[in-house]
Amino acid sequence: MNILRNFVVFEGGDGSGTSTQIELLRNRLNPEKTPETPREGGTGSGCRLFTTFEPTDSPIGRILRQALRGTLPLKPETIARLFAADRNEHLFGPEGIRDHCLKGDLVVSDRYVPSSLVYQGIDCGETLPALLNRDFPLPELLFFFDIDPNIALQRLETRSGRDFYEHLDVQILVREQYKTLLPAYAAGGVRLEYLDASKPMEEVAEAVWRVLQEMPIFEKWGKKK
Ligand code: TYD
Repeated sequence: MNILRNFVVFEGGDGSGTSTQIELLRNRLNPEKTPETPREGGTGSGCRLFTTFEPTDSPIGRILRQALRGTLPLKPETIARLFAADRNEHLFGPEGIRDHCLKGDLVVSDRYVPSSLVYQGIDCGETLPALLNRDFPLPELLFFFDIDPNIALQRLETRSGRDFYEHLDVQILVREQYKTLLPAYAAGGVRLEYLDASKPMEEVAEAVWRVLQEMPIFEKWGKKK
């Protein structure tokens, strides 16, 4: 399976803190950037970080968010296909993940193929998500933010409303499925790192940073930070 160099993915159940960690990483590598500025990082630290997420904010991603909110009823198979379509644009569209990786940026995505295998796998069985996602490249490095779903869901309580998957019984299954599926990535040549996401966010951020710095791309940047 082909690995896309410079591509890093954060995965975990809902409330596992992947978005927070991406924000902390942006602050570390591009401290001059504020949350309002574009997601593409600056060059202040000698590196270029491009952070992104799925579902994306494209029109397809917006349809998916409506489906996740429950405001647009769609068949699970339709949702699985839309996630794959959203991902295809995300990867191969102009200024997409592949373009950034090829020009030497570090790309970090909040969710990717494993989310589809896990979440849509639960909803429509493993065959369709596996088929829809089989040709996408693998990331170089994959972090799994592991956390007890009880704690994760408590963290989400301050948010208004619940997405489709944000329920304890589903999240218990999600965690099990990740643990079943992820070893295949390591076998396919991806560096797979499990993190204890119940730890304080600064500690988790340090753990992420220690691993990231071992990527070949940081050799090039001279480990400036
Ligand atoms: P999340 O990443 O937690 O974003 P937000 O913080 O905006 O809620 O939520 C995205 C949801 O989408 C999450 O419940 C997992 C789900 N999802 C899938 O079901 N399949 C996928 O392929 C992806 C990328 C996400």
